[in-house]
Amino acid sequence: MSAPTTTDRLSASNDPPAQASIDDTLAVHPATHDSLTGDCLGDGLGDFASEYERVRRLTEQLAAPLTPEDQTVQTMPDVSPTKWHRAHVTWFFEAFVLAEHQPGFSMFQDTYWTLFNSYYESVGARYPRANRGHISRPGAHDVGDYRRHVDDRMLDLLSARLSGKRSDGGRPEDDALRALVSLGFHHEHQHQELLLMDIKHVMSRNPLEPVGYPGPRVAPRSPSTASWIEFGGGVVDAGNSSDGFHFDNEEPTHAVFLRPFRLADRLVTNGEWLEFMTDGGYERHELWLSDGWARVNEEKWCSPLYWTRDGSQWREHTLHGTRPVRLDEPVVHVSHYEADAFATWAGKRLPTEFEWEHAMRESMVAPPPRDDQAHRIDQEDGIEGFHPAADTGGTGMRQVFDSAWQWTSSAYLPYPGFTTPAGAVGEYNGKFMSGQMVLRGGASVTPKGHARVSYRNFFPPHARWAFSGVRLADTQTT
Ligand SMILES: [Fe+2]
Repeated sequence: MSAPTTTDRLSASNDPPAQASIDDTLAVHPATHDSLTGDCLGDGLGDFASEYERVRRLTEQLAAPLTPEDQTVQTMPDVSPTKWHRAHVTWFFEAFVLAEHQPGFSMFQDTYWTLFNSYYESVGARYPRANRGHISRPGAHDVGDYRRHVDDRMLDLLSARLSGKRSDGGRPEDDALRALVSLGFHHEHQHQELLLMDIKHVMSRNPLEPVGYPGPRVAPRSPSTASWIEFGGGVVDAGNSSDGFHFDNEEPTHAVFLRPFRLADRLVTNGEWLEFMTDGGYERHELWLSDGWARVNEEKWCSPLYWTRDGSQWREHTLHGTRPVRLDEPVVHVSHYEADAFATWAGKRLPTEFEWEHAMRESMVAPPPRDDQAHRIDQEDGIEGFHPAADTGGTGMRQVFDSAWQWTSSAYLPYPGFTTPAGAVGEYNGKFMSGQMVLRGGASVTPKGHARVSYRNFFPPHARWAFSGVRLADTQTT
């Protein structure tokens, strides 16, 4: 028997779950951050090769509990099969890094460049997104081979070109490579969250109610009391122009005028959402935006996406199984339309993205640190932490990065002075700045090191399958 290669260590999806190593991966994944700038390059984490291994390993370990059949299903056009995510993030490194920087580069399979190209028109042809579930071959095992092929070449390249500490700066001629590899890390972070969102939808359509990720039961608690935190407003800065990693859509920084406002210190709970439902929230047109009311009627919305009625009880599908709705947990999987209707019903409103960002800066709220244990994997009890936990109370802003993305009332638009980067990476964000709303914060399924105060997530206003929740805002009148 030959000694295990690097890529043997990285690929786990063809093998039984290895809980101890999952624990290790999530506990150290990926980067510490400067709390407000999202600096994950100057943190002394080690070299790019080590970070590459860490990021790639997590994807495989999230997929490891899923069977090849689980990994093939697509339950709606927005959902991609798990094996597609595993292959697409691999294609991203192959197409954007290896093709550009590896001497003597050749494709693993030319057909993969069509199958696993998501939306990059300038790279070439694409297979229709809505049909990704039609592709039984390459299978999950074949995708593992693809990942190993690219991992071997990426690690060779990183060792040869970017072997120093990332905080050392490195050679100027390697700047473009450093930027692309960093983008690849954060791209794979995004798909790790998408993988969990999508497999949750897949599992929800199975009447056997499969448990994607076993987790211990958590005893319900009494919901905490929400309080308001006040902010004076004025002319404030928004955006991120730091040296730390951030996406192009967070630039450039610019001044924004805010009226005095206040923000709830925790997210809206399931219990509060039930009050909205009991008061006819889904039946009163006056609470809804016109497009939202049309969706309510067309799609028969009467509760958050994963709630089902069982006699007199509401049950909720989670990544850890289906169980009664817990009143103390934050509501999740509601659309922008529902969030807006709830706020109207409550006599409040949603925050703008600029209010949200200013409030979190003023509150000195930091994303979960690298050694945070919120996503703990327990060897005996399984996986916990993929569902938002109840607020534990206290003072200050809470449930900012670790529970549910928070809808804002801001349309996803370019900041003043935004320019699209040259080349295919210019298609990453800018071309989606139409018909979508901004969400801020982070969710229980967001990988550590990915969220930051200036981060702009975005989805269409009717989307419900993301881990999206509600933080209320109010305008101060005195
Ligand atoms: Fe992608």
